[in-house]
Amino acid sequence: MYSKIVLEHFQNPHNQGKMEEADCVGQVGNPVCGDIMKLYLKIRVEDRDKPVEERVIEDIKFETLGCGAAIASTSMLTDLVKGKTIGAALKVTKQEIADALGGLPAVKIHCSVLATEALEEAVKQLK
Ligand code: FES
Repeated sequence: MYSKIVLEHFQNPHNQGKMEEADCVGQVGNPVCGDIMKLYLKIRVEDRDKPVEERVIEDIKFETLGCGAAIASTSMLTDLVKGKTIGAALKVTKQEIADALGGLPAVKIHCSVLATEALEEAVKQLK
């Protein structure tokens, strides 16, 4: 059912855990299943006066009460956006995440939405 990449990220998630001194935190719930995702961002210090879209994500972490697909999707999202500007990070789509994971079963696509929605929520706090 799951690709090899999904299983790797599920078994050994990247950037999982709490961040004590995050600049912003986004938390969302998935109405389909009730799972929860929390995403922490740290912004590069020298970027703090720049327009939000131009600030670079220096570090990112996540915590979740979610299924394997949500864990793998968010792990992949953190890899895709770390070191990017907020503007570029917000352009990452659930489809790109699914593609980078070697595909997700159709019934699990909604799980990858938690990752992008949590990122959007976190960024709202910077505005
Ligand atoms: Fe809830 Fe996947 S089933 S996030």
